[in-house]
Amino acid sequence: MELHIRAGSSLSALPAPAKVLFTCFLITIGLGYLAAIYYLFTIDVDPHEKMGMSVVNGIEMKYHGERGNTRLEAALRGVMAGRISPEDRAKVIDWLRNGAAKEGFAAVGPIFDKDCTVCHSAKSGLPIPPLTGFEEVSKVARVDTGPSLSDLARVSHIHLFGISLIFALTGAIFALSRVPRNWKTLIIALPYLSIWADIGSWWITKYQPLFAYIVLSGGGLMGVSLAAQLLIPLWQMWLGPRDQTAPAG
Ligand code: HEC
Repeated sequence: MELHIRAGSSLSALPAPAKVLFTCFLITIGLGYLAAIYYLFTIDVDPHEKMGMSVVNGIEMKYHGERGNTRLEAALRGVMAGRISPEDRAKVIDWLRNGAAKEGFAAVGPIFDKDCTVCHSAKSGLPIPPLTGFEEVSKVARVDTGPSLSDLARVSHIHLFGISLIFALTGAIFALSRVPRNWKTLIIALPYLSIWADIGSWWITKYQPLFAYIVLSGGGLMGVSLAAQLLIPLWQMWLGPRDQTAPAG
């Protein structure tokens, strides 16, 4: 089969095999996008809302980290609160707030030995972090600053490579639709612009939490423009007015 697709030719006049291919591709991308949104909701949105956080707070926490908190302090105030006396807790938190340094550990080490290592040691066999010395305690005493730069680089490059191809294909199909040229150009560029804003803001949010709003609006803009790229060609291929000037396929 030979395909002649002239710029401006009507999608509805394409040969049936080409229409079916485009349709299957666009629908599959749409389903993939819905699945991605659902996944994002269950991983990033729902758990944070259950904790009483807004979506933006959740994004902030994901990329900026919980700077005021450590796993150790969170546990001492939360699940492990009953395992330590209030005086000892105050001492440990004091040590944490002062940088959790090796020098001060001598003062708090015995508290861990007394109250924690029954369970938190390799010997107990429990799947929880051992706390039998400075090295082990410092692993849960590190301030959470969000994902490392190499984590961000890994997630970013996978997203950028994958998503640029998807937008190239949806954009190429959309380019065949009948839409005023300025709008067409804008809608083809928008998913790329929004993914730059979105992924770029992951990096900036690590340092400046306000950018969580850009992460959110970049994602929203991408959704809207991708929806236009999928729905307009689908509509014009099957439901829109047929083009009389082009040969029917
Ligand atoms: C009776 C056993 C027991 C004792 C004693 C105990 N813990 Fe735990 N700890 C657990 C278990 C089980 C978990 C994991 C379950 C959970 O998170 O609810 C846990 C979780 C934790 C975590 C969270 C780990 C993470 O993944 O973030 C920290 C930190 C912690 N404990 C610190 C302490 C400290 C500090 C003490 C001493 C003051 C202590 N625990 C005493 C059993 C114990």
